[in-house]
Amino acid sequence: MTATQYLADWRPYPFAIAETRLDFTLAARTTRVRSAIDFRRIGPGDLVLDGAGLKTLSMTIDGRPVDPTLIRADQEKLIIPADQLPDSFTFEAEVQIDPEANTALEGLYLSGGMFCTQCEAEGFRHITWYPDRPDVMAPFRVEIHSDKPVLLSNGNPVNTAPGHASWHDPWPKPAYLFALVAGDLRAIPDSFTTASGRKVALNVWVRPGDEPRAGYAMESLIRSMKWEEEAYGREYDLDVFNIVAVDDFNMGAMENKGLNIFNSKLVLATAETATDGDYERIEGVIGHEYFHNWTGNRITCRDWFQLCLKEGLTVFRDQQFTSDMRSAAVKRIHDVQTLRARQFREDAGPLSHPPRPDHYQEINNFYTATVYEKGAEVIGMLKRLVGDEGYRKALDLYFDRHDGQACTIEDWIAVFQDATGRDLVQFKRWYTDAGTPRLSLTEEWANGKLVLNFRQHTAPTPGQAEKPARVIPIALGLIGPNGDEVLPTTVLEMTEERQSFAFEGLGARPVVSLLRGFSAPVTVAREMTADEQALLLAHDTDPCARWQAGHDLALDALIDRTRGKAVGEALIRALGGLLDDAEADPAFAALCLSLPGEEEIATTIAASGAVPDPDAIHAARRGLVQDIAEAHEVALTRLFDAMAPQGPYRPDADGSARRSLRLACLGYLGRLDDGNRADTLFADAGNMTERQGALEQLIALDRDADALARFAAEFRDNRLVMDKWFMVQPLRAAPEKAVARARALAARPDFDWKNPNRFRALISGLTANHAGFHAADGSGYDFLADWLMKLDPVNPQTTARMCSAFETISRYDTGRQDKARAALRRIAAMPGLSRNTSEMVTRILA
Ligand code: ARG
Ligand code: ZN
Repeated sequence: MTATQYLADWRPYPFAIAETRLDFTLAARTTRVRSAIDFRRIGPGDLVLDGAGLKTLSMTIDGRPVDPTLIRADQEKLIIPADQLPDSFTFEAEVQIDPEANTALEGLYLSGGMFCTQCEAEGFRHITWYPDRPDVMAPFRVEIHSDKPVLLSNGNPVNTAPGHASWHDPWPKPAYLFALVAGDLRAIPDSFTTASGRKVALNVWVRPGDEPRAGYAMESLIRSMKWEEEAYGREYDLDVFNIVAVDDFNMGAMENKGLNIFNSKLVLATAETATDGDYERIEGVIGHEYFHNWTGNRITCRDWFQLCLKEGLTVFRDQQFTSDMRSAAVKRIHDVQTLRARQFREDAGPLSHPPRPDHYQEINNFYTATVYEKGAEVIGMLKRLVGDEGYRKALDLYFDRHDGQACTIEDWIAVFQDATGRDLVQFKRWYTDAGTPRLSLTEEWANGKLVLNFRQHTAPTPGQAEKPARVIPIALGLIGPNGDEVLPTTVLEMTEERQSFAFEGLGARPVVSLLRGFSAPVTVAREMTADEQALLLAHDTDPCARWQAGHDLALDALIDRTRGKAVGEALIRALGGLLDDAEADPAFAALCLSLPGEEEIATTIAASGAVPDPDAIHAARRGLVQDIAEAHEVALTRLFDAMAPQGPYRPDADGSARRSLRLACLGYLGRLDDGNRADTLFADAGNMTERQGALEQLIALDRDADALARFAAEFRDNRLVMDKWFMVQPLRAAPEKAVARARALAARPDFDWKNPNRFRALISGLTANHAGFHAADGSGYDFLADWLMKLDPVNPQTTARMCSAFETISRYDTGRQDKARAALRRIAAMPGLSRNTSEMVTRILA
């Protein structure tokens, strides 16, 4: 079962389905599923159905029994030869499944006594025999028998009586969008009237008692529906839209037609329990799943290689939504930070793959930063190249031409070519080629003429040695030595490996403000002096490039420090100027005050060909924080006080900007006041943003015992808040204590490790502590490996995702590398290792 799947092997399914009828009789250990599927032949071939772990009680075709020896259990398939099939027929089956034993959380499972489903990517085959592939679409009728009070499925309710409900989803959909929920749930009800006057009943379903925490999710849903009508002219298409929050969930959320199922951490929020970051993610993910209704559900993927067709586009749309709801500049900078931290990291290592991969063993391993975040960046570039109007025309054509279809990246690109007339053959490489291009810039200056010489180069990635040039939109401006902008944003289109562009008639030599708005997902190599960086930080008109200048200045200072050089005076001076007018734009000041993290410093050192030393990096960063704090104590103190809350907590852009600046100041001041301010803030804060920020400071300063005890006493019964408690300790602990701390936490009875949120909180808290995880004695690697081996038999998907903590090992010294590889080989050798984890470990060790 570890066969590799290839894009080139895709063949059309030989049958269409007129209707799928499902009848569930729910029971924890013995759920019965009866199915009836009306097939009609549309091409040559056998009938192939997928099924995994099913106890098959009966199967018939038009009432005649199907020979059970046609089941190939080893392949998880039932194959009925073409010559045994009429042209149109109804396949019926009855199977029994065990939701309680389903700890993998794929298919139908139990979470806190509630029945729920997760079918993407290939979970439906754990429910019944079916063509479990996204290009087979059908309308569904679903009957549910259960004594649970609330019984939900996709589409519109047909009738509901105690113990029974029936649902009809008229929109043809693939099996991965099927959903069922049965439980004791309470709704936050509301409604939305679409632009064309359809009244839609909205519900956010939560456990009894959680109703007061679901209001923000509902507000976010209504904002999403309205925004999509305005920005894309798309309306909702059913009478009801349900969202359900569940505690046990492998990922963030799922866009099942009319019945989105969410990890409860992306639904439940109050000022006392959720941070600004949590609120922003809730709004963004509610939007994301809602937007899938058009980009994913009405138009879906032909096969799983095309995953970025729906995910890249839907991420792009949720980014647009958030930037319209909040601050566009802050959102863009956050997205750039995430892309660099997760996607560039992935692309630089053994797991690098193109946004559209052409082979995989386990598709669940490809829900990656490359498919999602780079997939969105690629669309941003496309939009820049064809312009806003061209983009709108292309999207209208996409919805028009492909509604109701299962599509490919080729279909998507054709829509842009047809709508705008632009040749996109070279552009397509962004989808098919892996790796992050490195864009180098050298400059020539003479007689008022500036020549920019660009070169692009992409290093080989696994399976792709040759990297032809891509089209790169380079947005830039020029800033004169006095700070004036002498050239407003101009987009250059680079199509060759080397290309030069000239700007004439300039008075004095300007500084290039490069990659404005982060116009392409590339790394940049250019020589810049600290003074030039400081000039851009002070005067650039583009927020992204301005932030980048400050960030690079800090990164250079930090790297110098790891080599025992210099103290970063230029940076300290530049931050002084920034602090003086921080109140005008607190969010921007906070972003600049948050120095590059240790992981990013390590990445940058590795990219320059050197070997990063995690302990030296940690010490350098700490030292720079101390120096900045001492140099700017007065300004930091003034800002910390000025950013105190004004009025009640509101999770909006302005409020969160003030809090982020306040906490950024606290991060420095804590080095001077021994954590006294953090202690007071922890005790007095009326919201979780400041509370958690203060707690993280106290842990970093090793002054956390009282605060942790109080926090645990107060939030013992709130799982989501206790997840934070488990996460921040290994994350913020001093590196030499991080592993021991994680070990102690893992031994607690409330470390409910089968719950993915709790597992991730503790384990990724540690792996995100750069110097702690990469402890020279290998204890971080061993701890991670031990836990991955324990989780794999229970939940392969979550285990496999967390293997990526090892993806950077080859950049470190051989001592660390050997220990990490030994830990990985231990995992690889485990008997019965899942296909998911086996694929990840093999790729990382290759
Ligand atoms: N389609 C979901 C989303 O957009 C992700 C679900 C993936 N789940 C999985 N088990 N692979 O966000
Ligand atoms: Zn998605």
